[in-house]
Amino acid sequence: MNVLVVGKGGREHTLAWALRRSALVDSLYAAPGNPGIAALGECVSIAPEDARGIAGFARENDIDLVVVGPDGALEAGVVDEVESLGIRAFGPTRAAAEIEWSKAFSKRMMREEGIPTAVFEVFSDVAKARAYVNELGAPIVVKTDGLAAGKGALVCRTVEEAMKALDGLMTEKKFGEAGRKVVVEAFMEGEEASVFVLTDGERVMPLVPSQDHKPIYDGDAGPNTGGMGAYAPAPVIDEGALKDILERIIEPAVLGMKRRGRPFRGVLYCGIMMTAGGPMVVEFNSRFGDPEAQVILPLLEDDFAELAVGISEGSLPAGPLTWKRKAATCVVVASGGYPGSYETGMEIRGLDLLDEMDDVFAFHADTAMRDGKLVTAGGRVLGVTALADDLRGSIDRAYDAVDRIRFDQRYFRKDIGEKGLRRMA
Ligand code: GLY
Repeated sequence: MNVLVVGKGGREHTLAWALRRSALVDSLYAAPGNPGIAALGECVSIAPEDARGIAGFARENDIDLVVVGPDGALEAGVVDEVESLGIRAFGPTRAAAEIEWSKAFSKRMMREEGIPTAVFEVFSDVAKARAYVNELGAPIVVKTDGLAAGKGALVCRTVEEAMKALDGLMTEKKFGEAGRKVVVEAFMEGEEASVFVLTDGERVMPLVPSQDHKPIYDGDAGPNTGGMGAYAPAPVIDEGALKDILERIIEPAVLGMKRRGRPFRGVLYCGIMMTAGGPMVVEFNSRFGDPEAQVILPLLEDDFAELAVGISEGSLPAGPLTWKRKAATCVVVASGGYPGSYETGMEIRGLDLLDEMDDVFAFHADTAMRDGKLVTAGGRVLGVTALADDLRGSIDRAYDAVDRIRFDQRYFRKDIGEKGLRRMA
């Protein structure tokens, strides 16, 4: 089978790695890929959002399966274009992916389906949004309706902060069209975790629960990033909580999407807040998380290519999935200054020192080759994943690996996984 992975980050490197392990996969391509993926297959210079370009490449190169990583590509309709040519695609159509690319659509769907989530209203009029902020009071959350690279949800501690957030999004248009409409919602107190399911549009199969670390600094301080690290399994989602989340949240969402004529096929990502009143939805996403994919896929025993083919054909294989009896931790190594401004082009050294470590992977997120050298090319540079028999061991091994990797202005959080250790203690 010839497979094309769409995307260029750490999640896509992990998808490419998982697909490469399958005996079903003969040739692997990525659009546009990155230097890490280039070691596994051929990278072609097509933007992930270029739906026509990707479908055309798939047709001309006898691609049997297209696996779409990023939200922007799903919003752009890559799956629709590819499927219109009779080629299999793993991922939801543009209409189904609206569960992520419009927070207003998603929140309204949750309200209509009785799915627990924070109270909210949607606004395109800044004066009305301000009045609602005054009514709800702080803390409060202001979100762009559209996609904003993971930075569109602003947690505001005071009413003044929320007013500033509304001005930034709606008047100054900091995220362009994405903030033309906003969702204003009540703040939820609790611990956040990520629950993913594979779904064929009707049945669901849960993946191992994980936890991301979105703020830039240790102790969850500072502005949000795309994600600074993850671990799995996350003990905050125990067996009982997972059953509850499947029954009261995920299954109603999947059936709700089907009833709306937008069956969701692929991987559905549910950001969950474990509140004192039970699990509530922070957001739905239409794809694997990044960096959650970097800890989930290395723990999966099953053949991911086989699963993806089944789902792309609308039939989820009979479960359950098989998992390694191990824990995984991923530490994201970033450019100092991220998520604000930072320099790129720093030479990355020491990746070869990871070769001698079993079950340790450096997934490339934003790297480039320049004059024959591997250099930094963005904010989140690498996701370093390590497996071990337990969470403590996987954290220690991941940091041991991170210590071997060097580049100027390197930055990483030092507390990935600690919430999990505290909960287990
Ligand atoms: N882990 C955050 C995201 O993928 O959106």
